[in-house]
Amino acid sequence: MTEKIKKEFFINYIIYYLNMVSKKNNIFKEYLNSEISIFKDESVFYPDYFPENIVSRDKQISDLQFFLKPLLSKKKANNLLIFGPSGTGKTLISKFVLNQLCEFSNNIKYIYINTIQDNTRFAIIQKIVSFYKVILPRRGLAIDEVWDRLVESFKKSDFYPVIILDEIDNLKKDDCSKLLYDLSRFSYNSKFFTLILITNNKFFINYLDLRTQSSLFLTDLEFPKYTPSDLKNILLERINFGLIENAISTDLIGFVTGFAAKNSGDARIAIDLVYKASKFSEKNGFLKISKDILISCSSLVDSVKLLEKFKTLNDNEKRFFLSLKDQSDSSLAHITENIPSRSARRYLEKLDKLNLISLKDNKNGKGNSRIIIINVNRDILDF
Ligand SMILES: Nc1ncnc2c1ncn2[C@@H]1O[C@H](COP(=O)(O)OP(=O)(O)OP(=O)(O)O)[C@@H](O)[C@H]1O
Ligand SMILES: [Mg+2]
Repeated sequence: MTEKIKKEFFINYIIYYLNMVSKKNNIFKEYLNSEISIFKDESVFYPDYFPENIVSRDKQISDLQFFLKPLLSKKKANNLLIFGPSGTGKTLISKFVLNQLCEFSNNIKYIYINTIQDNTRFAIIQKIVSFYKVILPRRGLAIDEVWDRLVESFKKSDFYPVIILDEIDNLKKDDCSKLLYDLSRFSYNSKFFTLILITNNKFFINYLDLRTQSSLFLTDLEFPKYTPSDLKNILLERINFGLIENAISTDLIGFVTGFAAKNSGDARIAIDLVYKASKFSEKNGFLKISKDILISCSSLVDSVKLLEKFKTLNDNEKRFFLSLKDQSDSSLAHITENIPSRSARRYLEKLDKLNLISLKDNKNGKGNSRIIIINVNRDILDF
């Protein structure tokens, strides 16, 4: 060993030693050498993961191709209404097809807007303006001024815009009708907005006023629920990429897909159940998921959507919601109450709209009393 190598070796050893000493009292020290985990790549279970293979949606993909194809030759494409139950791939497939389309043609660009996050006409128009890279003045503009900026940028732009409005039924009826009317009526130099509306509600169109219904001229595209075999194929990719070998047996994959198939064929439920069970196993140092773990985690699924909604509440609404939950002792609590203040009534309406609770009239109660059904297991929020 030359002197130089010896010196380097010595320095590296000192660094390693100091590192170890500094971590000796760290609360994470037990994980220092614990590289063995049930996960190979946890990110495949995250909601924003884009799967390598899209399963059982050939028809919907080719329908979308067909309906959007006119844009490639600068012609008008119909506006689309994509509907189907939760977890049937509506968001995933819309983004997938639009990514492909925009990659193929420089003349087309799309913006994705989730109306749980941007839940007013104003917020959505602002978002579309930002898509044109327009910086709005800090002083804050009135909605008509923002719309004018949008029109200006639209006229100057050299691409065909496609706007995906996901969870469209979150908008208030009037806001929604006006927004869709304005967007669908607008055109300049034979350029226009192409709208893709996504909803769980097949009859969404009836929610809009009549003039909007007719100016939208929507083409329907249905996403049916997945069969157990579709769910199995979807799940297998996550398991193969995400977990170590033999982490879950074939029988238990069947259990998960059966569970998700019973819960409206929702792929999110299948993925989320395996994820929760894997997290639980990891926490307890297990390298295999057992049926007991799956059963106990099955009450915690569907968190992704609900958590997303929970995060959109402001602090007062969150506190109010948690206080409702604290008054309940079961996961699906029924509370009968005379709703006290105006703000409480407003919070309740919002929670009801987000489906975090359901409000029902209490036929046996007095006065204004309502039954509040809490749709979320508290453990989900703590997970
Ligand atoms: N055909 C598929 N192949 C692979 N993964 C899929 C497929 N369909 C759905 N998934 C996965 O299932 C989850 C739910 O899909 P997605 O969010 O697209 O459902 P959705 O129909 O938009 O549901 P919601 O109505 O609740 O918004 C996502 O993690 C997605 O990647
Ligand atoms: Mg979706």
